[in-house]
Amino acid sequence: MNTLPFRGKNVLITGASRGIGLAMARAYGAAGATVLMMGRDVDALARGADSIQRAGGRAWHHVLDVTDDASVARAVDAARAAQGHIDLLINNAGVYFQQPFLEQDPARGRLELEVNYFGALRMVRAVLPEMLQRGEGTLVNVSSVLGHVAYPTNANYSASKAALNAFTHALRGEVEARGVRVLLFMPGHTRTENGLSVKLTRVPLQEPEEVAREAVQATLRARPVHVSGAGNRTFVWLSGLFPNWARNYMREVARVSFATPVLPPGRS
Ligand SMILES: NC(=O)c1ccc[n+]([C@@H]2O[C@H](COP(=O)([O-])OP(=O)(O)OC[C@H]3O[C@@H](n4cnc5c(N)ncnc54)[C@H](OP(=O)(O)O)[C@@H]3O)[C@@H](O)[C@H]2O)c1
Repeated sequence: MNTLPFRGKNVLITGASRGIGLAMARAYGAAGATVLMMGRDVDALARGADSIQRAGGRAWHHVLDVTDDASVARAVDAARAAQGHIDLLINNAGVYFQQPFLEQDPARGRLELEVNYFGALRMVRAVLPEMLQRGEGTLVNVSSVLGHVAYPTNANYSASKAALNAFTHALRGEVEARGVRVLLFMPGHTRTENGLSVKLTRVPLQEPEEVAREAVQATLRARPVHVSGAGNRTFVWLSGLFPNWARNYMREVARVSFATPVLPPGRS
């Protein structure tokens, strides 16, 4: 068995300063990759990269704001200049604000789309042309189970991830025959700063390390879609068979979880 399947590969991870992104950086680093860690918090990135290097891995970091075209161009250029071509891009950076739609500041809702959806598109525009030229590479878009079954009190977040899902499937159809693989990776509720800020009573939490291990495995197996966690996979599968049940389930979770009254199942 190859214990370092990503040896010699450059893996760029956005939002690698904490949470799932940092856990992914550690997991790909342990699998032999050189991890190119990006995000806005440079001190946290430096600490993360240092911990990977002390564990014997290879890590490099650069500041990045995925909402800013110039920042994306600078970061990707710097990564190529320092480490060479990018083999795998993981669009993981994300923000999440839980609030009923009418109570949410529209600027926050817009930011969810800017980071979670348009941020990923900016990164793909910067990285994909070189992958197509080389005829190889992998893009991983980190979506969410909530992009598959929308969650009341998270309308904009769910919309941002549903948009990312559709984009990912469409892009795969354009580039797969030219050697570039495209993976849609959907975590469920995960124990991170972001994840713990969400009220999701009754929904089990996965550890970020577990999610990161699944990401490594999913990219090795060349899957088009991977839902993290057996419980989440069952829920997504059942939601395909029984979409109304799944929507009502989410409505009930939101009603129990959130202080603001949400309509009970069956009433709209
Ligand atoms: N946790 C969950 O329950 C859960 C469930 C499903 C899906 N997800 C998805 O998994 C991904 C990671 O979530 P997480 O829970 O690990 O969140 P987190 O702990 O809050 O980390 C979010 C990361 O995104 C980065 N980020 C935010 N805005 C950015 C920007 N404008 N430019 C560049 N980086 C930015 C942050 O870095 P800086 O602050 O340093 O910029 C941070 O590293 C997200 O896409 C999220 O939607 C999470």
